[in-house]
Amino acid sequence: MGGLRVLIYFLVYSLSIFIRIKHCHSSSICLPKKHGGLFIFGDSYFDNGNNNYINTSISVQANYPPYGETFFKYPSGRYSDGRVIPDFIAEYAKLPLLPPYLHPGYPNYIYGVNFASGGAGVLDGTYQGLVVNLNTQVSYFKNVKKLFSKKVGDAEAKELISKSVYLFHIGGNDYSTLLETNSSLLLPHDHQQFVDMVIGNLTNVIKEIYNLGGKKFGFLNVPPIGCSPSIRIRVSNGSTGACLEDLSAIARLHNTKLSQMLQKLEKQLKGFKYSLTDFYSVVYQVIKYPSKYGFKEGSMACCGGGAYRGDGSCGGKRGIKEYKLCDNASEYVFFDSFHPTERASQHYSQLIWNGNHTITKPYNLKQLFQV
Ligand SMILES: *[C@@H]1O[C@H](CO)[C@@H](O)[C@H](O)[C@H]1NC(C)=O
Ligand SMILES: *[C@@H]1O[C@H](CO)[C@@H](O)[C@H](O)[C@H]1NC(C)=O
Ligand SMILES: *[C@@H]1O[C@H](CO)[C@@H](O)[C@H](O)[C@H]1NC(C)=O
Ligand SMILES: *[C@@H]1O[C@H](CO)[C@@H](O)[C@H](O)[C@H]1NC(C)=O
Ligand SMILES: *[C@@H]1O[C@H](CO)[C@@H](O)[C@H](O)[C@H]1NC(C)=O
Ligand SMILES: *[C@@H]1O[C@H](CO)[C@@H](O)[C@H](O)[C@H]1NC(C)=O
Repeated sequence: MGGLRVLIYFLVYSLSIFIRIKHCHSSSICLPKKHGGLFIFGDSYFDNGNNNYINTSISVQANYPPYGETFFKYPSGRYSDGRVIPDFIAEYAKLPLLPPYLHPGYPNYIYGVNFASGGAGVLDGTYQGLVVNLNTQVSYFKNVKKLFSKKVGDAEAKELISKSVYLFHIGGNDYSTLLETNSSLLLPHDHQQFVDMVIGNLTNVIKEIYNLGGKKFGFLNVPPIGCSPSIRIRVSNGSTGACLEDLSAIARLHNTKLSQMLQKLEKQLKGFKYSLTDFYSVVYQVIKYPSKYGFKEGSMACCGGGAYRGDGSCGGKRGIKEYKLCDNASEYVFFDSFHPTERASQHYSQLIWNGNHTITKPYNLKQLFQV
């Protein structure tokens, strides 16, 4: 059943690409009629396999069972039982599934490509040496731009780049690693400088892509990371545990500054357009009221061990061999100690794509593709 579904999925996509190419007049490169491609930057929420191809630690990889068991039927490197947010967004935008940039043998990136890397933060220092950091992700985008120019000429490349959407999920790791360097987290107001540094570096990245010709930017703000099972397990002493409020408070501080920064850029940069999804609130609602959204469990992970199954043991390859796996991942918000299930990602994606103004503004992603 699942295998058949995957087969049909790919057949439909191949067919849709074939039809588009058939209706293509100019060069061999042919864009979707109305809009450009989708370029993905970020961390494990978005990584669709890049970390399979870097020399890193298993702690930032998800290319072993039971990852990937529900949709793709193989562990593709996505931190999920199935698809991740960029897979759904590509589908809604009528684009094919985007390849991970580091996957060998994808010379054609006209529909976009995914640069995201599990563990990455905004800062180069976050999991340094283990991840493709954000600045490197941008340097890969530069390579893609050069490739476009070579294939279709500068003018068409410019058009393609300005029509495309650049979607980000990044920042959570910069803050959650604070816990590793300092287990006694400071109160949020003491983190002003650190948050400013993260926002400052993110601003530079956005400006860099803008200077390369990018105009349409999509962002998810940082979710309530203090409520992920991996953090709750630290707070709880094996019984009941709350969220680590201090960590979520830093996320909220980041989110406030992110929103201010984007409003500023919109005024500064001609033609700059963005969509900012209040991912924090969206995720918080689902964690707090799972049954309202059709989930049975909002706090405990489907896969892992210890309190909230938050010990990071999912798959049994990160030091701890024994782990538990739920029967039906779709009933859970979290698949492993940090990452959403496919079903949660689908819920998030629908709101990112088509949410109203309380959730995503000034445009939702659907509108951003069309403006
Ligand atoms: C991969 O990383 C390990 C540990 O950092 C290092 O010892 C090894 O030489 C690296 N291998 C390659 C091919 O870079
Ligand atoms: C860790 O946090 C405490 C306050 O909670 C602070 O006094 C200390 O300087 C921090 N240590 C490091 C290494 O940042
Ligand atoms: C970017 O981050 C580095 C640390 O990785 C910091 O030294 C620098 O000041 C930051 N840049 C901005 C503009 O905040
Ligand atoms: C552990 O959790 C229980 C239940 O929440 C609480 O009563 C107890 O005081 C906690 N113990 C420690 C050492 O935090
Ligand atoms: C798994 O859970 C979802 C959501 O509750 C439900 O729709 C689905 O039928 C369940 N699948 C199985 C095999 O029980
Ligand atoms: C926006 O969407 C959310 C979630 O779908 C809903 O709860 C809310 O009532 C909507 N707000 C408006 C103003 O339509």
